[in-house]
Amino acid sequence: MKIMQSVEQLREVLAGQTSIGFVPTMGFLHEGHASLLKQARQDNDIVVLSIFVNPTQFGPNEDLDRYPRDEQRDQRLAQAAGVDYLFYPTNDVMYPLDMARVTVRSGDDVLCGASRPGHFDGVLTVVSKLFNIVQPTRAYFGLKDAQQLALIEGYVADYFVPVEIKRCPIIREVDGLAKSSRNVYLSEAEREQAPGIQQALQEAKQALDAGTPLETVLAQTRASLHFEGTTIDYVEAVAYPTLGPVNPTTKTILLAVAVQFKSARLIDNLLYTRGA
Ligand code: PAF
Repeated sequence: MKIMQSVEQLREVLAGQTSIGFVPTMGFLHEGHASLLKQARQDNDIVVLSIFVNPTQFGPNEDLDRYPRDEQRDQRLAQAAGVDYLFYPTNDVMYPLDMARVTVRSGDDVLCGASRPGHFDGVLTVVSKLFNIVQPTRAYFGLKDAQQLALIEGYVADYFVPVEIKRCPIIREVDGLAKSSRNVYLSEAEREQAPGIQQALQEAKQALDAGTPLETVLAQTRASLHFEGTTIDYVEAVAYPTLGPVNPTTKTILLAVAVQFKSARLIDNLLYTRGA
């Protein structure tokens, strides 16, 4: 595995490659990232991983400064996952002039977009830069960040970006908690409560299967998510992947949850296909 910081260097080694699988991350890698890399390894000749904690997707009061980092561990995991090139750019490399940004036009007024203004502009900006640098054949994203994934798919379609976006399943701890770099922020007591999010989503699925109306299911889910010391940021349902309102013809519903613990905001979701 080669580690690179410069765009020119990376472009030089990637020139002429037939298939490039790309996994963009912010580091502090876990089994969720490992599963994306595994899929990328299976599908492509070359696997590129990027690690860049992107400042433009963090709000002023968010966790940019304390976002967890562990370069040595990340490198070991990347090496074990069969990564060929690890791209580790600095802010100056990624934002040389910072004269241009990508703006989301629709789909960021709900869920995380509603509580994190500008977040998805930052995500699409950095993803667009990374796509232009790596020019991957396929790029891999986890469904845990389902809104992010839908907006990236929308961006790729609207801008005719020649990349295939691969949706990858959520990877969970044995007790059901979705793997996230931010899980390290949880206190012991919070860590015990956190699997309740997945339990609430499973109950929601059962209720939908049983024909319970969506609004009732959402109300039940909100009620069951009251843990001590937490606030619910949202429990919402939107059509997927348009992120618009659910209507009688909506086939796939994204039921998404964000819970604010004392020092970590956790998200999770369920993709529910009607009549499946
Ligand atoms: O999902 C993430 O880790 C980030 O939002 C991404 C896609 C790497 C962009 O910084």
